[in-house]
Amino acid sequence: MREHAHAGAQPPEDLLGQETIKGLVREAYRAVVGTTTGVAERLYDPEQLARLPRGAVEQALGVGNPVRAAGLQPGEVVLDLGCGGGIDTILAAHAVAPGGRSIGLDMLPEMLEVAARHAAEAGVANVEWMLGEMEAIPLPEASVDVVLSNGVINLSPRKSRAFAEIYRVLRPGGRMVVADIVVDEDLPPEILMSAAAWAG
Ligand SMILES: C[S@@+](CC[C@H](N)C(=O)[O-])C[C@H]1O[C@@H](n2cnc3c(N)ncnc32)[C@H](O)[C@@H]1O
Repeated sequence: MREHAHAGAQPPEDLLGQETIKGLVREAYRAVVGTTTGVAERLYDPEQLARLPRGAVEQALGVGNPVRAAGLQPGEVVLDLGCGGGIDTILAAHAVAPGGRSIGLDMLPEMLEVAARHAAEAGVANVEWMLGEMEAIPLPEASVDVVLSNGVINLSPRKSRAFAEIYRVLRPGGRMVVADIVVDEDLPPEILMSAAAWAG
């Protein structure tokens, strides 16, 4: 039997630059943990803001208000992908009580720490914080009723993997409510090669 010429050859590390991009994203968001962004007042309803501790409002980094559109019901299990300081996770926890729970997943332990502090200040007990990546969600299949995400999927260097994972963890009939930025045409090389554009 003839061996393939490349059998055993190791591919170059990070062939598609995915880990490089994730590293940039980690650095960018680590740098804004605990800062004040001023975006929440534009995106959330006054009644929503009134239920949130100041820190959760100040740390908001999203681009929309997925909880408003999600039609959350008591008893549902919600997963907030890339929860940051926990603004949507906490609002979702309120909306699914009694009987439901809200899980905030983020790849930065520092973000999860502040999110947990905000939830404690908000007095919500039906929340869980999970360290992990949206491209490999550490939950069993068909375990979630609603996936929320706010300003996060655009940051993935492997969006098809993230969507496959969302589909895997959703129960049949479950729903995904995403607020994000999209492009509808090819980006020029100077944007594709810009670290700030990948991490922003
Ligand atoms: C733009 S912020 C949005 C935070 C939050 N959703 C909000 O609305 O305030 C992006 C968050 O996603 C997290 N993140 C980025 N890429 C991720 C990934 N691949 N898996 C999990 N979390 C990720 C970052 O650490 C950061 O907390």
